[in-house]
Amino acid sequence: MNDEKTILYVSHISKFFQTSGTILRKKRYIKAVDDVTFNLKEGETLGIVGETGCGKTTLGRSILQLIKPTSGDVFIDLPDDVMMEVMDIDKRLSTLEDEDDEEYAQLLDRYQVLSKEHSITKKGNRAMKKYRKIMQPVFQDPFSSLDPRKLIKDSIAEPMKLLTEMNQTEILDKEISLITEIGMSEDHLYRFPHEFSGGQRQRLGIARAISIEPRLMILDEPTSALDVSVQAQILNILKDLQKTRNISFIFISHHLSVIRMMSDRVAVMYLGKLVELSETEELFTDMLHPYTKALLSAIPIPDPTITRERIVLEGEIPSPANPPKGCYFHPRCPVAMKNCGWSARDLVEPIKDMLDPYRNQEASTLPEITEIVSDEQENIIDLIFAEGQTFDKEEVKAEIAKMIMKESSKKGGVKFSAIGDISYQETGELRLAIIEPDTPKLMEPRKDHFVSCLLFDYNYNDRKEESYGEAEGEEEKPSINL
Ligand SMILES: Nc1ncnc2c1ncn2[C@@H]1O[C@H](COP(=O)(O)OP(=O)(O)OP(=O)(O)O)[C@@H](O)[C@H]1O
Ligand code: SF4
Ligand SMILES: [Mg+2]
Repeated sequence: MNDEKTILYVSHISKFFQTSGTILRKKRYIKAVDDVTFNLKEGETLGIVGETGCGKTTLGRSILQLIKPTSGDVFIDLPDDVMMEVMDIDKRLSTLEDEDDEEYAQLLDRYQVLSKEHSITKKGNRAMKKYRKIMQPVFQDPFSSLDPRKLIKDSIAEPMKLLTEMNQTEILDKEISLITEIGMSEDHLYRFPHEFSGGQRQRLGIARAISIEPRLMILDEPTSALDVSVQAQILNILKDLQKTRNISFIFISHHLSVIRMMSDRVAVMYLGKLVELSETEELFTDMLHPYTKALLSAIPIPDPTITRERIVLEGEIPSPANPPKGCYFHPRCPVAMKNCGWSARDLVEPIKDMLDPYRNQEASTLPEITEIVSDEQENIIDLIFAEGQTFDKEEVKAEIAKMIMKESSKKGGVKFSAIGDISYQETGELRLAIIEPDTPKLMEPRKDHFVSCLLFDYNYNDRKEESYGEAEGEEEKPSINL
């Protein structure tokens, strides 16, 4: 693998799908891919892994421009100095905090010039022809590239006819050499797709993609539909083709063992976000992100003398149409902190339970609460007391604060520590205000090891010390303003 040449740089790519609205439901955006940045070297394989629906396919298709990304840039096969400049400016822009800063404005201007000139997201269909020759997809279902009504010969020839100047004889020669390279024979060219097994069809799909000698292949679950023994053959063919041609791969799979076998580096996605990226062995043995830890804890260890605790994540994967605030992983994160993104929607039901006298005896001494109303935008929960009651307001407030602190010290109670302020409103309700969440950025706490988690965000940890006076590593303590 060439350590120097970057063949692809994906910068802050997002793809939001708009859902159709109804009378009862407003239009929404599904954040399928949300601000993803990474680079890929020549001859390198970057594995992309994550649970179903986390945006792997959408990311691949956005890079290929098979779908138009909502925002962001894709730079491919640029002269080294231009690629380095783009990546360097982008890195500096993401580390500069003050967006009004003159340096920031100058860098942004230069970035925009480079983006306009070189990003394929800014290119029209005609200009894209050049890039379609450079990158080729292989999908899980080879039928998507092999027309069932066409001879294999004609399907494989299609990209060469469309994207190269090759004549018919050259195309046929190339097909014969390719079909031998993938372990099949010339007479297979004169058959139809249905005459082949799934594994053979996938080989033919690969031959079709490789026929125009792309520099980058985006392989989306290329072996997931195949038997394990056939999978291994296809993976080996891919590795051989890569070695002889020095092609770069983006290899998408939810099979961790396949990802480990194929990839030089691995990117982990969660709910459209890239949460961790590092060299493969480091990711599998010394992962940093709590989600990666949970994901990888499911892999069985072949050595029976080694035991590892399986981390079972609680709760459903949230909808990308309505992702949580702050860190998208916070509702399921076993080590979430109070600033990780808790909002009214996380707390309203637990608060209702806490204040329900049938569930919590301590609540029976409180005055009657008729309604608990939350506002996700304002990040508040209002407790509305029944009219006509007389009670010592300060005493009730202190009692509720005590109950919140008690809840926060229970297992899984960290969300309660996100309540930062309790105060009466002029209209009489008691308002629980939740602290402003922090959103993690992709940081590089170790060389070439990126992670998006507040535990590794030094800026956040500095700010945290300023505002809450908590030493690093010290347990989170609730601190409610009464
Ligand atoms: N055309 C579309 N319109 C609306 N939503 C879409 C569309 N395509 C994908 N999505 C949504 O975007 C999210 C990401 O989907 P995507 O197919 O990229 O995930 P994935 O990681 O490839 O999943 P899988 O492992 O199941 O293949 C999902 O919530 C999906 O429902
Ligand atoms: S920022 Fe880190 S610690 Fe906080 S919820 Fe996300 S993954 Fe967990
Ligand atoms: Mg997919």
